[in-house]
Amino acid sequence: MHGISKEPFGTLPNGKKVTLYTLRRKGITVKLIDLGATVVDIVLDRPDGTALSVVRGYDDLSSYLNADGYLGAVVGRIGNRIANGHFSLDGKKYTLYQNDGKNHLHGGKCGFDKRLWKVDEAPDGEPSLTFSLLSPDMDEGYPGDLIASVRYSLTERGGLRLDYTAACDAPTPLNLTNHTYFNLNGTGDILSHGISMKADSYLPTDKGLIPTGELRSVDGTPFDLRARTTVSHGFAAPNDDITLAGGYDHCMIFTSTGDPEHDARVSLVGDKSGIEMKLYTDRPGVQFYSGNFLGNPRYPFRGGETQKKHAALCLETEALPDAVNQPQLNAVCDTVLRPGNIYRSFTEYVFS
Ligand code: GAL
Repeated sequence: MHGISKEPFGTLPNGKKVTLYTLRRKGITVKLIDLGATVVDIVLDRPDGTALSVVRGYDDLSSYLNADGYLGAVVGRIGNRIANGHFSLDGKKYTLYQNDGKNHLHGGKCGFDKRLWKVDEAPDGEPSLTFSLLSPDMDEGYPGDLIASVRYSLTERGGLRLDYTAACDAPTPLNLTNHTYFNLNGTGDILSHGISMKADSYLPTDKGLIPTGELRSVDGTPFDLRARTTVSHGFAAPNDDITLAGGYDHCMIFTSTGDPEHDARVSLVGDKSGIEMKLYTDRPGVQFYSGNFLGNPRYPFRGGETQKKHAALCLETEALPDAVNQPQLNAVCDTVLRPGNIYRSFTEYVFS
């Protein structure tokens, strides 16, 4: 099968229906729901005729509504954290919803992950879908009306590509990302996954996981992932930043100047499956999160598997966290979208 199909996925408390879309092309099947423009599953056909699911998801709508791990969703307006839920823009102070202690995380209480997005299918039956959303003025405290969209498409080179666009009618911070949890073995944990990243520096954080403002070199630290290593190798090295976060939960800053379409920034390898995922993006960094907060027994993963810490990892392509409050971080990539400008970015996960 090449193309797209759809089926019901459940009903929201307000009576609106959630739909599950299946996109398929040459050996890759991707399942998406319009709640949160969420990646529910990515399934790869293997040479021996079997199929392997390489991301964590839930079987039921209620878990997507009630669990707090952002599984597979698009998060916004600002993915990652804003210190104390406050920022100033053009001399005006704004207060955002504080949903992570005193900090604002992933767009707030009812961020983009909890919204029902509008869906447009590609007219020609191609395996591509566009989700779009209107975020009204003062949504979770953010100024201005914003229209955001993400197009998912399956690419010729065996990838799932996300193209984000947005426009606003008043200046607003914006940093859209996708929060898919990958496990390229399909089961167990990600501790022995191989990982490499073209990143020379990373952002150390305080205990609330807000960047301290320092861009620290990865030299001599477990954040030096320039040559392939394993996640557990990084955990084994004594390091205050890893201890503070309970694993990797840091923004890695890419140094590659190569063409983002053809120069992969990250490579992840399932040690048991041998599957490699290459990540391409035009974003300047990625939040490498090793699933440290997973483990809520109330929300088993698909197929009834109990949630466990490090059962999957996220690679959240991004501008630098808290940049709206830290000019030296905003200098790497401006996170303020202004009327008349179009926000555009892409991320592609390519499997082999
Ligand atoms: C990640 C974030 C983690 C945690 C997680 C959701 O993006 O970096 O600290 O909040 O989302 O559980």
